[in-house]
Amino acid sequence: MSDSIILGIESSCDDTSAAIIKGNCILSNIAANQAIHKEYGGVVPELASRAHQQNIIPVVEKSITKANIQQNAISAIGFTRGPGLLGSLLVGTSFAKSLAMSLNVPLIEVNHLQAHILAHFIEDANPMPPQFPFLCLTVSGGHTMIVLVKDYFDMEIIGKTIDDAAGEAFDKIGKIFDLDYPAGPIIDRLAKEGNPDAFTFNKPRMENYDYSFSGIKTSVLYFIQKEVRKNPDFIKENLNDLCASVQRTIIEILMAKLEKAAKELNIKEVAIAGGVSANSALRKVMQDYHEKSGWNIYIPKFEYTTDNAAMIAMVAQLKYERGEFTDMKTSATAKYDL
Ligand code: KG4
Ligand code: ZN
Repeated sequence: MSDSIILGIESSCDDTSAAIIKGNCILSNIAANQAIHKEYGGVVPELASRAHQQNIIPVVEKSITKANIQQNAISAIGFTRGPGLLGSLLVGTSFAKSLAMSLNVPLIEVNHLQAHILAHFIEDANPMPPQFPFLCLTVSGGHTMIVLVKDYFDMEIIGKTIDDAAGEAFDKIGKIFDLDYPAGPIIDRLAKEGNPDAFTFNKPRMENYDYSFSGIKTSVLYFIQKEVRKNPDFIKENLNDLCASVQRTIIEILMAKLEKAAKELNIKEVAIAGGVSANSALRKVMQDYHEKSGWNIYIPKFEYTTDNAAMIAMVAQLKYERGEFTDMKTSATAKYDL
């Protein structure tokens, strides 16, 4: 890999992030999270765009200072073109274009989902990067899918959710429990003190490698409504067990399809990526599969799980080497296939 220095910019949802990569080594990875959405129990697109506007310059400046480089050492600007919230993407896209123009360097568009997966090739992401072909369970607030990764830019979605994403299920169920947004990390923490077998919730019966998470959400909602009628303090008194049981169910749903795909395609290189891959129980279950099924597992470092610009810079570096640059006329896109 070349030693080029590239700036990556991520602004697809509610994190404004900038990172500097040299070769595949991350020199800085700065993120400003938008606390404002907590008050609303979810991301408010309009507020996210405004916060990106406020954050983007300080975050980019910080990434350059932290990397200890001069602006003129930057060889290209990588940015998230999609998928994501259009207003949020527009801020990063417009800023990336302007900066590329002023520095007179190429502009490189990055697919956010490819970036979650290719984060595994960052130097300090894994002791050894995955070997092609590998399976990657990509689980975030917006997406849940099993991707067959045949090469860096040759990916096939073999299964995906037909309704909610796994992260969305964590967040929506967290809302039923009156937890803050995003509830995924909170459920993870509370589940540590709970019994995962305390409660049973419905699991979907889906064909092939597809997922569905709307059923578990409804199952939890009806169960809670019924119990709260009998005991108004039910949630408070059982919060740890509820979180542990929900988490176990979501992980079982995720792993059943991943296991089926690994078996049927005879692939033992298995990775996870995306925000939900930060989940400590999911990471532990992957470890179990390594031991019981002989999978070579790839679990991203925490800083490369939720949205970050390091993964954007990584993809930009791979495209830079291939000379794949983006025209200045490009525009952000809310939908962007793998
Ligand atoms: O990848 P990401 O940062 O943003 C999207 O592209 O969606 O993923 C955010 C999602 C949220 O739904 C959040 O609740 C979930 O990832 N998440 C977790 C954990 N950390 C983040 N879910 C379960 N356990 C966690 N530790
Ligand atoms: Zn993401």
